[in-house]
Amino acid sequence: MNIAVFASGRGTNFGAIIRGVKRGLIKANLALLVSDNPKAGAIGRAKRAGIKVALVKKEDFTSKDDFEVKIIQYLKEEKIDLIVLAGFMRLLSPEFVMQHKGRILNIHPSLLPSFKGTQGIKDAFNYGVMVTGVTVHFIDEELDHGPIILQEPVKIKENDTPESLEKRIHKIEHRLYPEAIKLYAEGKLRIEGRKVKIII
Ligand code: GAR
Repeated sequence: MNIAVFASGRGTNFGAIIRGVKRGLIKANLALLVSDNPKAGAIGRAKRAGIKVALVKKEDFTSKDDFEVKIIQYLKEEKIDLIVLAGFMRLLSPEFVMQHKGRILNIHPSLLPSFKGTQGIKDAFNYGVMVTGVTVHFIDEELDHGPIILQEPVKIKENDTPESLEKRIHKIEHRLYPEAIKLYAEGKLRIEGRKVKIII
């Protein structure tokens, strides 16, 4: 099974996935990193791990359609079976999602459907909720939305700051995402309507 990770930022989740593959937890081939940001830390991680990088900058394309056509070309070249969004800060078009239905995973730093968007940790902290968390899910056409695979709560402590909370959330993300990808790679995830059944 060939995996492409899409990342726009630091890529710490990508790093955890690389380790998961190296350790043999995820039995798959990390074939490609797709990034829209030349400054993404994820690019250095890919290069160090010998993973091919596809840099697709939105501003180099006249339309979102052309941008995605280029991405699809890379995916076809590498015979990608699974797309893993790891801090990819662009909304994929409904057409792209439809074309890859059931083959795109996302991680989000909150208990979805609460606190969608690019600031999930800060938004939960500022709202004053007592519990937030991490969600791994299949994506559908909406932002941070789709059948949930794994979810784990994180309690917000009285003396937490957004930074200390972020640290704990990231730690959980780095365990949960490789675990979900492992399940997918082993064919243990079945989408049944809005829900995901884990076949043991
Ligand atoms: C992660 O916390 C991920 O949950 C979040 O971006 C961060 C990327 O960190 N994704 C979203 O907010 C999606 N809406 P990383 O680059 O260090 O892996």
